[in-house]
Amino acid sequence: MSWPRSQLLEIGDQTWCPSWLHQHEQFSLTRLWNLKVPGWSRGSLATQACSVVEEHLQDLSSYTILDICAGAGGPTPVLESEINKKLESEGKKPVQFILSDLYPHHEEWSRISKKQQNVTYIENRVDARAAPRFAAKGMKECRIFNICFHHFADEDAAGILKNNIESADAFM
Ligand SMILES: C[S@@+](CC[C@H](N)C(=O)[O-])C[C@H]1O[C@@H](n2cnc3c(N)ncnc32)[C@H](O)[C@@H]1O
Repeated sequence: MSWPRSQLLEIGDQTWCPSWLHQHEQFSLTRLWNLKVPGWSRGSLATQACSVVEEHLQDLSSYTILDICAGAGGPTPVLESEINKKLESEGKKPVQFILSDLYPHHEEWSRISKKQQNVTYIENRVDARAAPRFAAKGMKECRIFNICFHHFADEDAAGILKNNIESADAFM
């Protein structure tokens, strides 16, 4: 490409950004994932994300899905309920979802995991650039990067992809 990559700054990435504002930003994004505009969108963006996961991962029950920059949950609660409803109707094991983030949103995550038993979360900060494997033994791990890759500088992005290839089985 002849045009250099330009990277805009996001307020939530600034060290001075107060945590209440960061959490508000994360929460607003989750609301957008679930927004339905009658007559314009087919379902929400979160329901469209379900089709992407179902289309690209075979044998879903063998995966743990790690939402590695989860914010306030993004599309994951909808992914869990829609995907597992279908798996259950086929007599298959549910997929386990794990939320993690460099800035964990404990309040939202705890609310989600109380309502949805297949969603758990990592309490400590997890940096996507050096994430360990979280899937239980014998399970495959797929990491999902929902609207977060623009946060990473080129070298970090390369490191994250390398880490994925080395420690996970799939990413999207
Ligand atoms: C644009 S938000 C997306 C949140 C969520 N995935 C969604 O779709 O609503 C980006 C998220 O990436 C997180 N983040 C930024 N740098 C990170 C890093 N190095 N490791 C893990 N998470 C990071 C931020 O805290 C923020 O929650």
